[in-house]
Amino acid sequence: MQVLIFGATGMLGKALTQWWSGDEVIGLGSADTDIRAPEQVRSAVKQAQPDWIVLAAAYTDVDGCEINPTLAASVNTQGAINVANAAAEAGARMLFVSTDYVFDGRKASPYETNDLRKPINTYGKSKADAEVGIVGILPDCCIVRTSWLFGPGGKCFPDTILKLAASRSEIEVVNDQRGCPTYTFDLADAIIKLCRSSARGILHCTNSGECSWDEFASEILRQALSKTQVRPTTSERFVRPAERPKYSVLSPSSLTAYGISMRSWQQTLSDYLQQRSTA
Ligand SMILES: NC(=O)c1ccc[n+]([C@@H]2O[C@H](COP(=O)([O-])OP(=O)(O)OC[C@H]3O[C@@H](n4cnc5c(N)ncnc54)[C@H](OP(=O)(O)O)[C@@H]3O)[C@@H](O)[C@H]2O)c1
Repeated sequence: MQVLIFGATGMLGKALTQWWSGDEVIGLGSADTDIRAPEQVRSAVKQAQPDWIVLAAAYTDVDGCEINPTLAASVNTQGAINVANAAAEAGARMLFVSTDYVFDGRKASPYETNDLRKPINTYGKSKADAEVGIVGILPDCCIVRTSWLFGPGGKCFPDTILKLAASRSEIEVVNDQRGCPTYTFDLADAIIKLCRSSARGILHCTNSGECSWDEFASEILRQALSKTQVRPTTSERFVRPAERPKYSVLSPSSLTAYGISMRSWQQTLSDYLQQRSTA
């Protein structure tokens, strides 16, 4: 199988390119191909002749998207549509990596794949619009929504917490947003399996379990044997440009249908910490 990954220089893209073996994998970053430029995308796809295109490229700075909605729309929505058009022309399958932020967070139980998209910030809207646009071009595409990614080779929550803990005895972390942390290598493994299973439709893929950000921080520090304490705070006290959903846990039932089960997020943390200590 020939695979083309857009966003290979990002946190998930690095895990995908490192983890994927047994197939021909070409990984591109924005310096190779700007997904906002349809001609560049078309030419990259023509050259790679992929069976599958994995679109992991995005403008992922959630607060940045709020401040610059034009950039968010051009990369996350139009860029994704450009990739879908090129995939359709080349007869390639496409897997689009999407987000829990397509939901408003008002539910009290895990979101199912057919729950209504209702984003409350610009980043979520740009990804929700991309989902709709892609399906219109490629009805058999595969959309994989994930959440709270962490892993080596990128700015992520555990790295930030550990850096803060190195110089502080206490860290304030919000306790009023719940979601599920997802290790990039576990997501990469699931994505590879999904491509090999010829998956289609919307799927939710996160590590299992759920937590709030302060619980996530406490577990990171506990596993890292840090003495730094977490003090819970609220989003109201920690105002940021983009509003976040209060609850964005994704149900695993769509993934179970493909025979894929995910480890708990707590289990993956030890892999992350071990990798970080040897990096
Ligand atoms: N991070 C999360 O917590 C999270 C949660 C849910 C879903 N997701 C989704 O998961 C996917 C991967 O996220 P990530 O955290 O790995 O992202 P990331 O580390 O921020 O990496 C973003 C990638 O997109 C590329 N990119 C940005 N603008 C581009 C452009 N105009 N043309 C081509 N490539 C461009 C970057 O390329 P360069 O580095 O070469 O510029 C980089 O490879 C994204 O689709 C994101 O929406 C992420």
